[in-house]
Amino acid sequence: MTTPKTALVTGGSSGIGLAVARRFAKAGIRTIITGRSRAAVEIASSMSDESGSVTGLVVELSDLPALRSCLREARQRLGHIDIVVNNAGIHPKRNGGKYLVEEIESTQWHEVMNVNLTAPFVICAALLPAMKERGWGRVINIGSSGARNRPISPSAHYVASKAGLEGLTRCIAEEGAGNGITANCVAPGPVITRLTTSSSKEAIEGLTRSIPVGRYGTAEEIAALVEFLASDEASFITGAVIDANGGLTMN
Ligand SMILES: NC(=O)c1ccc[n+]([C@@H]2O[C@H](COP(=O)([O-])OP(=O)(O)OC[C@H]3O[C@@H](n4cnc5c(N)ncnc54)[C@H](O)[C@@H]3O)[C@@H](O)[C@H]2O)c1
Repeated sequence: MTTPKTALVTGGSSGIGLAVARRFAKAGIRTIITGRSRAAVEIASSMSDESGSVTGLVVELSDLPALRSCLREARQRLGHIDIVVNNAGIHPKRNGGKYLVEEIESTQWHEVMNVNLTAPFVICAALLPAMKERGWGRVINIGSSGARNRPISPSAHYVASKAGLEGLTRCIAEEGAGNGITANCVAPGPVITRLTTSSSKEAIEGLTRSIPVGRYGTAEEIAALVEFLASDEASFITGAVIDANGGLTMN
């Protein structure tokens, strides 16, 4: 595989995605981050000053025509995309806690599915053919410990979307294995980001007590794992779901 590599990180303007983009930029990987607002463009340009080349594109991932046009623009800017990190995700909460199945409106169900599962499918479907042609590719999907455990706190739409993402990951791994493509899912446990600070104080305290290491993880800890999976060194790891959750699940 010839360098420099290129990467697309969805939801790269905050939390885990931002930490991944920072690492990629430092490693010399030309990176595009997507975000829902102009902040993605501004954050990308401030990162480009610090290290590497980072471009920000604004896209609403549940708008599939807009997503397809964003992917065309990403390919025009980078030429080809070697690494995809499907990181963007949403987890709507009811008063900082979970929705029961019967409380989930179908519009919200579809919104969660569109952002967490359909967008990664559309992105991978668009980018895999060129990866196969080039004989190298990395797909890293950000799942969740919520889909790997007894779902005490997460809501059903979130859990179902992340479980679906694990299945999509295995299919991509199977189909890409003969073409130098690996696909893996990283399943974080609770990590301090905007997504978790919207939880109630009681929910955060309760969850912290159940984590063997006694704390939430950091975006940086998840990004380090993503960077490794994106590297040449991780070429024998594919179709895996890798837990990073402070011991919340032990297999
Ligand atoms: N923080 C945690 O505890 C935790 C735990 C398990 C899994 N995760 C997963 O990690 C991923 C990153 O989340 P995070 O914790 O960094 O939270 P975050 O809210 O900081 O990041 C989510 C990103 O997704 C983007 N996004 C959301 N909806 C979008 C849409 N409709 N269109 C375009 N972009 C959209 C946001 O702009 C944001 O940048 C998510 O997939 C989440 O499910 C997080």
